[in-house]
Amino acid sequence: MTTPRFYITSAIAYPNGRPHMGHAYEMITTDVIARFKRLDGHDVRFLTGTDEHGLKIDQAARTAGKPPKAYVDDMVAPFLAMDAALGISFDRFIRTTDADHKALVQALWQRMAAKGDLYLGRYEGWYSVRDEAYYDQGELVEATDASGATVQLSPQGTPVEWTVEESWFFKLSAYQDRLLAIYDSQPEFIQPASRFNEMRSFVAGGLSDLSVSRTSFTWGIPVPGDERHVMYVWLDALANYLTGADDGGRGGLDGEWWPADLHVVGKDVVRFHTVYWPAFLISAGLALPKTVFGHGFLLNRGEKMSKSVGNVVDPLDMATRFGVDRLRWFLCREVAFGEDGSYSDEAIVERTNADLANGIGNLAQRSLSMVAKNLGGVMPVRGAAGETELRLKEAFMVGAEAYFAHMNALALHKALDAVMGMVAAANGYFAENAPWALAKTDTVRMAEVLAATLDATRRIVLLAQPFMPGSSAQLLDQLGVAADARDFKAFNTPVDAGTQLPAPAGVFPRLTLADVDGA
Ligand code: MSP
Repeated sequence: MTTPRFYITSAIAYPNGRPHMGHAYEMITTDVIARFKRLDGHDVRFLTGTDEHGLKIDQAARTAGKPPKAYVDDMVAPFLAMDAALGISFDRFIRTTDADHKALVQALWQRMAAKGDLYLGRYEGWYSVRDEAYYDQGELVEATDASGATVQLSPQGTPVEWTVEESWFFKLSAYQDRLLAIYDSQPEFIQPASRFNEMRSFVAGGLSDLSVSRTSFTWGIPVPGDERHVMYVWLDALANYLTGADDGGRGGLDGEWWPADLHVVGKDVVRFHTVYWPAFLISAGLALPKTVFGHGFLLNRGEKMSKSVGNVVDPLDMATRFGVDRLRWFLCREVAFGEDGSYSDEAIVERTNADLANGIGNLAQRSLSMVAKNLGGVMPVRGAAGETELRLKEAFMVGAEAYFAHMNALALHKALDAVMGMVAAANGYFAENAPWALAKTDTVRMAEVLAATLDATRRIVLLAQPFMPGSSAQLLDQLGVAADARDFKAFNTPVDAGTQLPAPAGVFPRLTLADVDGA
């Protein structure tokens, strides 16, 4: 049997500032899915990176007083550091200034040109440097600026400037019907459903041709055959998924991992991924990604993070203060994946104390310390299943089934609900059978109850691995689970009775706000 493959990507961030919690949120959720697929028997390729060309980066480099390449070379480091601190298991970190990427984007351009989809013209219209996006007049919204004057902003609330320049255009208008046909025949292409509806009506409203090159600056990939132009940064950026599909870094359009199974992106960039990107791919005669998932925005105490509000939080700092696995757990458990969500110190402390310290950690500690104290740390023999074991088994069957269904549907928060249901069932089983009382009356039964509790804990921790890889590994060590028995194939394989367990140690101490204050 061949191993199924899964190619997953995050968006590639603009390195024009340090990474913030929104970036961390996307990296963590994408990593959780990548790890889930690996544990579930897939050969996974996980691509991430940085989006380094375009006017926004050019302007930021100017402000910093550096040439753009030197600027991005410096700015990429904090993104790599964030990924390392958050345990992001990417297979390639692509930079759009990489040589293989440049070759690929030019090859893609030539395919689109050969198809007859590119023509030279003149762009006259609105452009938002912040979004690196063109907008029609009808899309702009009126707002009042600090001085009380009426200004026009993009639908994302960013400033727009009137732009006039020679430009190559892509015949996007010719793709309207094909895009609608794709949406209707493959509704899983855009998820969740709310984004699907938004994009479908955007395309149904008609499409203008898209300006795909710029002449007013030079920081980009040159247009083949017309080097006065650099490519529009979104054409360059989207193509990173093709470059990264090639294991050998050859920069060919026939990368062995293409098409991608899943692009995970934020809701603000769904349009680029579900309208422009499939049209470019069809034009170049390439297959389409199977799914684009548009997650929601992460807010700090319900407020948008912004430099002017002064509430931009450094994810590295958060990982140090709370521990990376608490942060990962919180973000996946508390935010419904696909919707906006909010975080605060209080909410993280409360949620992780409830789920991890009192829930999973307590379950593991109570049973492991009894085994250490009463049974010399040796994994006990399981007994014949009685009524309480059958109830536990039933709860675990239902819980595991829900977990897999929700993970495969990308409902990460619901998968964790299912895990917490299993934790409640296991804690209930332990309390009901009171092995601490059995220690005085019936040590054989006590050993059986501990064996069943440890196996329930093992199953819970196996499923928790994508969310908290480090702490799960520590717990599986303590539970005596062999390194090759940690994927989902081993779900129904208990640890052998007689296995010597290491001395237990708490993995999730209770936190107070004072522990995480100001660190
Ligand atoms: N460079 C483009 C993406 C190109 S993909 C071919 C870009 N960069 S970004 O740095 O602005 O954003 C990177 C990702 O982070 C995007 O998916 C974006 O939606 C996401 N987020 C940015 N701020 C966010 C939050 N506050 N919350 C959650 N995700 C957010 O867009």
